[in-house]
Amino acid sequence: MQKLQQLYEGKAKKVFATSDPDLIIQEFKDDATAFNGVKRGQIAEKGIVNNQLSCHLFRYLESFGIKTHFVEELSPREMLCKSLKIIKVEVVMRNIAAGSLVKRLGFTEGTELPYPIVELYLKDDALGDPLMNDMHAALLGLASPDELEFIKQQATKINSILKDYFLGKDLKLVDFKLEFGKHKDEILLGDEISPDTCRFWDKSTNKKLDKDRFRQDLGNVEDAYIEVRHRVMGV
Ligand code: TMP
Repeated sequence: MQKLQQLYEGKAKKVFATSDPDLIIQEFKDDATAFNGVKRGQIAEKGIVNNQLSCHLFRYLESFGIKTHFVEELSPREMLCKSLKIIKVEVVMRNIAAGSLVKRLGFTEGTELPYPIVELYLKDDALGDPLMNDMHAALLGLASPDELEFIKQQATKINSILKDYFLGKDLKLVDFKLEFGKHKDEILLGDEISPDTCRFWDKSTNKKLDKDRFRQDLGNVEDAYIEVRHRVMGV
């Protein structure tokens, strides 16, 4: 298997073709953006931490029967993945009120939700990834109603697995974003699971240990990513 031409460059990753048409390589960058690319910066070693954590978490989820695009960790910044036709829906799971739930609906930050909630966003930078419901997603032809139901069920299952897992590492999984895609007619979990795409708070102090440190200029951004890797992977 050979790394071939770059297919796509996103805000935090590059995607490369390989000599196997069913496989691609995700290369994780240190670039960080927030507010739909308006705020830009670099977080040293972020690409390495996010790749290592994502590989670890995809392996963990696979052990519970969750199907993901993960194939192999190729290098500190590179993940070999099954190629996906990405479904243009960002699925957000929330356990504790934070971020846009606080801004949009007036929840008090830190309020534990009585049950996890699932939200769908249209994956479209030009429109600013707006919130939508299942009917919008189906009408836009992004996925069928059955596929959307499956995706929401998977996200809920992933949340219950990861919430307990992180709590065992003294981290509260506040909320996170998932992306799914199709590989040979099968829906797989794609993208990454990292402090870029999850909110993690320290279990006892609620200290923020994720990209909110960058979004909100809280300082010690690199340390937070390294701390999460250390708690989760012991390295
Ligand atoms: P939000 O509270 O800003 O809607 O974010 C919810 C979760 O989704 C949070 O864990 C961060 C993650 N997220 C992304 O991964 N990418 C994004 O572009 C945004 C806005 C949020």
